[in-house]
Amino acid sequence: MLPNESRIGLRTWVVLFLVIFPTFFFSSAISGAEPRVAAKKIFMREKVRKMFYHAYNNYMTYAFPHDELKPLTKTFTDSLSELGNLNLEHLPQNYNGSALTLIESLSSLVILGNYSEFERAVIWLSENLTFDVDARIHLFECNIRVLGGLVSAHILATDPTNGLDQGIYKNQLLNLAEDLGRRFLCAFDTPTGLPYAWINLKHGLMENETTETSTSGCGSLILEMGSLSRLTGDPRYEAAALRALRKLWSMRSPLNLLGTTLDVVTGEWLEYSSGIGAGVDSFYEYLIKAHILFGKDEFWDMFKSAYLAVQKYFRHGPWYHEADMRTGKATYWQLTSLQAFWPGLQVLVGDLAAANSSHREFFHVWERFGVLPERYLLDREMLHPTEKYYPLRPELAESTLYLYRATKDPWYIEVGESIVNSLNIYTKVEGGFASIKDVTTMQLEDHQHSFFLAETCKYLYLLFDDSFLVNKNFIFTTEGHPLPVRSDWHEKLPEIYTPTNWTCIKNEKQGKRASAMSLQICPADILSPRRGNYVHGVESICHVPDSRADHRCMSDVECGVESISCRQRSCSIAGYCGLWLYVI
Ligand SMILES: *[C@@H]1O[C@H](CO)[C@@H](O)[C@H](O)[C@H]1NC(C)=O
Ligand SMILES: *[C@@H]1O[C@H](CO)[C@@H](O)[C@H](O)[C@H]1NC(C)=O
Ligand SMILES: *[C@@H]1O[C@H](CO)[C@@H](O)[C@H](O)[C@H]1NC(C)=O
Ligand SMILES: *[C@@H]1O[C@H](CO)[C@@H](O)[C@H](O)[C@H]1NC(C)=O
Ligand SMILES: *[C@@H]1O[C@H](CO)[C@@H](O)[C@H](O)[C@H]1NC(C)=O
Ligand SMILES: *[C@@H]1O[C@H](CO)[C@@H](O)[C@H](O)[C@H]1NC(C)=O
Repeated sequence: MLPNESRIGLRTWVVLFLVIFPTFFFSSAISGAEPRVAAKKIFMREKVRKMFYHAYNNYMTYAFPHDELKPLTKTFTDSLSELGNLNLEHLPQNYNGSALTLIESLSSLVILGNYSEFERAVIWLSENLTFDVDARIHLFECNIRVLGGLVSAHILATDPTNGLDQGIYKNQLLNLAEDLGRRFLCAFDTPTGLPYAWINLKHGLMENETTETSTSGCGSLILEMGSLSRLTGDPRYEAAALRALRKLWSMRSPLNLLGTTLDVVTGEWLEYSSGIGAGVDSFYEYLIKAHILFGKDEFWDMFKSAYLAVQKYFRHGPWYHEADMRTGKATYWQLTSLQAFWPGLQVLVGDLAAANSSHREFFHVWERFGVLPERYLLDREMLHPTEKYYPLRPELAESTLYLYRATKDPWYIEVGESIVNSLNIYTKVEGGFASIKDVTTMQLEDHQHSFFLAETCKYLYLLFDDSFLVNKNFIFTTEGHPLPVRSDWHEKLPEIYTPTNWTCIKNEKQGKRASAMSLQICPADILSPRRGNYVHGVESICHVPDSRADHRCMSDVECGVESISCRQRSCSIAGYCGLWLYVI
């Protein structure tokens, strides 16, 4: 715990507004200032639109209502029962899919402005989708893809600005989501409250089901299940997810590190090594996003401790390795493509410099191979022998979007262009977009993952055209489904949180807000109260100086600017960045 950092929740908001909604402040970006960039953005947006429809129309033609498209053979796979199921065990005998890719496309259709297709999909799903199927599914995957897709689409469908005929929509998607949520609940019936990783949608828990799960598997359910509770008024979903999250957090080591896999019955760790990639990634993401969506300080307190531990024990310059949760000693020196989401998360918390430098390294790897390989061994400077694939993953595009929205640096548009071009060159086939089996040969694999439509295309589209986000407060789930930040989902903020006299830019036009707090951003150059001079502003809620191996600061300047007060933060005698606000 850093000194002088007790009231940090507020700062998240400020940074959040700065990062996610800078269109308030930079809405002139499209017009005037940078005509060349503006023209490129329109050109690229149309290219991404074509990509989405190429993927979507081929799915609808050759695979719907099955789960995912096999673009090389123009056929389908009922993959909801295969997700996370590496050994393909207990596959259902009589399961014909749940229109997974259509569900995953719903929010993308709205963002692309295709309300008629959205409406058609909603009607089809409400008449035809059922979860009363004898299929064993992965709770985490089904939660982020199906429950998240439905909950997000329900919220978009009830928003009259999305052009859906309100007479047609009668909460059908929410009813489906609730039906699915109820089926999830039996997974949480364990001595620890940690959910089983697998359940059968029709029959619940299978006999002899494995008790092994992962940190992300049981620790990133709160956004979707919490939203379902807020929408239905039934608190059980949120309570179950929260209980699991609290239990998981209680299992952290004294270093505030978690492992990767654990046993839901005994509550013991199975794999003590962890990092920020597979099996853990969205756990961190959901702590900060839960704080943003539900406003509880509890989430923030967990996030802050967890984030600082990551920066302290996993980071090596711009790279992140894995470490043993008990000792903090490095275990595996590997770059995995899932880690590329981390810079986006760092933008959310305001650590822009660290985000920028890691993002650049990931992009270098992308440029070297043409796409991001799944796993690269940093210590041996070689690709992992069996994980040379690139399954159309979105994480680099996602981080690029966050960094562009925070900085407006047109360089990120070029990164986006490069990603789009690679996808078209290497993965586009007549029947859709195919995963890459081996990045050294660019040999293709017959699978178009649903997240290509839910995330990859969506983040790229928003990079080039963010009009969907103008004047709206959204967070995106780990599957790219937008959830609005609403004041009535927040606990009432105590008086002490309410700012009274901020001297920074305020958005005057803003009407109803999502929180009690004003929008503001710190000017690029701010006055340092201690020095009486102007310093370049760097917002960070828990800034950890990049420059030194132990991440401790030596001077105030290294600590950046506190984004509530826009004042420079101070470096304590112990070497921690603190709040100037509370020092005076
Ligand atoms: C799945 O499709 C097959 C072949 O069309 C059909 O025989 C079977 O009844 C379907 N299963 C279900 C659960 O609808
Ligand atoms: C919406 O999607 C459908 C299916 O791909 C397409 O036929 C239609 O032209 C699209 N409409 C708009 C406005 O893009
Ligand atoms: C439901 O599915 C059936 C069979 O595919 C189809 O005939 C029907 O039109 C669907 N309902 C809607 C509203 O599209
Ligand atoms: C569960 O495991 C026990 C002991 O290994 C075995 O006897 C039993 O057949 C298993 N049940 C099922 C349904 O696989
Ligand atoms: C990101 O890094 C590049 C290269 O070091 C630098 O030129 C740029 O100013 C940085 N941007 C931010 C926002 O830190
Ligand atoms: C806000 O602070 C500024 C600078 O400290 C001061 O000049 C101004 O009077 C204050 N405004 C209010 C409403 O307290």
